[in-house]
Amino acid sequence: MKKENIKIKTKLNINKTKVGKTSLIMSLVSEEFPDEVPLRAEEITIPADVTPERVPTHIVDYSEAEQSDEQLYQEISKANVICIVYSVNNKKSIEKVSLLLNVLILLSGHRVPLILVGNKSDLVEHSSMETILPIMNQYSEIETCVECSAKNLKNISELFYYAQKAVLHPTGPLYSPEEKE
Ligand code: GTP
Ligand code: MG
Repeated sequence: MKKENIKIKTKLNINKTKVGKTSLIMSLVSEEFPDEVPLRAEEITIPADVTPERVPTHIVDYSEAEQSDEQLYQEISKANVICIVYSVNNKKSIEKVSLLLNVLILLSGHRVPLILVGNKSDLVEHSSMETILPIMNQYSEIETCVECSAKNLKNISELFYYAQKAVLHPTGPLYSPEEKE
């Protein structure tokens, strides 16, 4: 694939469970956890020379409070990869992952790799993987899943690396017979 700007989009919760999308972006950029964050992070392009895959990476946050559905659809249709964030300490946000997946796959109109991101790992002792893996196995669009914490900076750079990798070296099928016609 051509090494052009990669667009990473964060999309989350339908009913504002504050899973930490904005905090994840700000933690990546400033390398520290921000005590206060705006509803939506400003769009930012990480220069190629500081990314592991050496490709400029454009990160787009999503805020249900600040953006219309129409804006969301437009961003989804432009994205090269979408990170779906849930909060590992919030069962409801985990349950919503399947619903979001269906919506995103329907809306994207093209095959876009998805990353499942379980944030706030600092708040729990147990992993959410047991719940997430069966979901992951149902959707070939999901490239990988990762648990992380914006607060203690755990797996933050890894998360963005996985997103880059999903675009540059996708493991999913390039051709799906069902998509024909
Ligand atoms: P909306 O934009 O309203 O949809 O929320 P969001 O998904 O952008 O979440 P945001 O980054 O605003 O974080 C919501 C709350 O969770 C804030 O109080 C953050 O400080 C907190 N938070 C975010 N990430 C973490 C984390 O990794 N651990 C803990 N303990 N708290 C976090
Ligand atoms: Mg936000």
